[in-house]
Amino acid sequence: MKTIMDEISQLVAEAFAGAGYDEKYGKVTLSNRPDLCEYQCNGAMAAAREYKKAPIMIAGDVAAALEGSEVFEEVDAAAPGFLNLKVKASFLTEYLNRMSSADRFGLEMPDVKKKTVIDYGGPNVAKPLHVGHLRSAIIGEAVKRICRYMGDEVIGDIHLGDWGLQMGLIMTEVRHRNPGLPYFDEDYKGEYPEEAPFTLSELEEIYPSASARSKEDEAYKDEAMNDTYMLQMGDRGRTALWKHIMNVSIPDLKRNYEKLNVSFDLWKGESDAKPYIAGMVQKMKDGGFAYESEGALVVDIREDSDTKEMPPCMILKSDGAALYTTTDLATIAGRRKEIDPDRMLYIADKRQEMHFTQVFRCAKKTGVVREETDLEFLGFGTMNGKDGKPFKTREGGVMRLETLLKDINEEMFKKIRDNHEVDEDEARETASMVALAAVKYGDLSNQATKDYIFDIDKFTSFEGNTGPYILYTIVRIKSILNKYKEAGNSIDGVKLNTEVNPTEKTLMLELVRFNQVVASAYSDLAPHKICAYIYDTANAFNSFYHENRILNEEDKDRQKGWIALLKLTKELLETGIDLLGFEAPEKM
Ligand code: ARG
Repeated sequence: MKTIMDEISQLVAEAFAGAGYDEKYGKVTLSNRPDLCEYQCNGAMAAAREYKKAPIMIAGDVAAALEGSEVFEEVDAAAPGFLNLKVKASFLTEYLNRMSSADRFGLEMPDVKKKTVIDYGGPNVAKPLHVGHLRSAIIGEAVKRICRYMGDEVIGDIHLGDWGLQMGLIMTEVRHRNPGLPYFDEDYKGEYPEEAPFTLSELEEIYPSASARSKEDEAYKDEAMNDTYMLQMGDRGRTALWKHIMNVSIPDLKRNYEKLNVSFDLWKGESDAKPYIAGMVQKMKDGGFAYESEGALVVDIREDSDTKEMPPCMILKSDGAALYTTTDLATIAGRRKEIDPDRMLYIADKRQEMHFTQVFRCAKKTGVVREETDLEFLGFGTMNGKDGKPFKTREGGVMRLETLLKDINEEMFKKIRDNHEVDEDEARETASMVALAAVKYGDLSNQATKDYIFDIDKFTSFEGNTGPYILYTIVRIKSILNKYKEAGNSIDGVKLNTEVNPTEKTLMLELVRFNQVVASAYSDLAPHKICAYIYDTANAFNSFYHENRILNEEDKDRQKGWIALLKLTKELLETGIDLLGFEAPEKM
């Protein structure tokens, strides 16, 4: 079904036409002056130029043409030529009734469903997850859910970093600690052990120490580069060791993402690009695109319109080893062959913009991907601490995701326990749900491309523009509905009121915007628009709640209408948070 704005615009356009003006001037927007009106149309101002007439006269003609309308309660022509509009409650009720009986609240889906791969998460195997990965997971999950809700066929791919130098570093360190292991013995022909030569916690410690040592010890770093190279060339022992690293790390990653309510359809990694590298490189050479420069293989990707310097895209290092660009390009080749998507969407730190520009241009230029495939990069800003610098631990180290989530869970648990008496287990479970909402909403309510300040006190607050406030509102609605049912009433088949009071109407005016907001969050890849919508809706609901004694209302029909309104508000808020990737508890 059409958005409410389109429906209203159509009526106003017809009125323009009826009054002898072009209907293109009938576009209606939300009011800039909610104190005066609910919607407005500024078309008379533009029409004034074409018709050489004072805008206020045109607005007056259109207002006259709208007289007696079923939809508008008030139409005012205001100086210098605005049309200020208020709609009848019966129109809102009728629109909301249609919304609630339609699939996905009447959301109109695009005609073409795009087959989309979303590349997000991007953790690096055996390196600890840090807050940068948190943003990719949170934003990517929300974008995935929004695209799916709009009807696209979406495949989420975690694209593990599992093929780079960190693997070589780990191998070098393992060898230094235990030189007798068979993985490094060229003459070893037997089976390799089934058991990994390290536990998860050992592995977690191995990478940072290897990384630190490689920064001071040239020879050690060379060894690590050689191990990486050997792995990439398919060395048997290193491949076996690599499998151990993967097998130990991945279950842990899965646990972490599960806690974040983030799930991937594909657990592929950079290493899965391997079978595509040789063929791709050959084609780039044959096509005359790739050439040698300072020993490395590169492709020029400069375009005449470039104003900034655009370095060539490196395809292979001088030793023939794969780079970040290599695996990304070959992954595109693999996705084309295995999935053939219409769109590939990457969610990563905006500091990787140059990398993706190079990859996308190179892929298009050399024919790795079809010309019409969309390659898009959604780059996000940095998550900063209260000091405005990238988020760190109290000691100044890189904040691990697990530590961060534990801190927030603890904070939330204290608040919930202090709020009222609940048993410990229940409080823990609720706390983890609310904590997740705090983190996700805190992130998603900002425009993704911007940096933002991670402020635990603010994010975990039950008041203001926060996840816990949204959940609190949903829980409040649930509790009213439950009390209503406990008093022996049914909440089925209740109908919205057609005569409403001001706070009731304000809430309805928010609810009707749902499908427009979702469509625009989709086309702009902007989950923050859904946050803004659910926040406005929660505010409108809470004003309504404070003005009306819902459960004590004597007029039972009126009360039923309110219950219907609560039900719909709850459904829309729940749908909103589901699109954002979190859920509300029963109690809080
Ligand atoms: N592993 C990368 C990192 O930690 C992110 C991967 C982003 N996706 C991609 N296809 N390059 O920075």
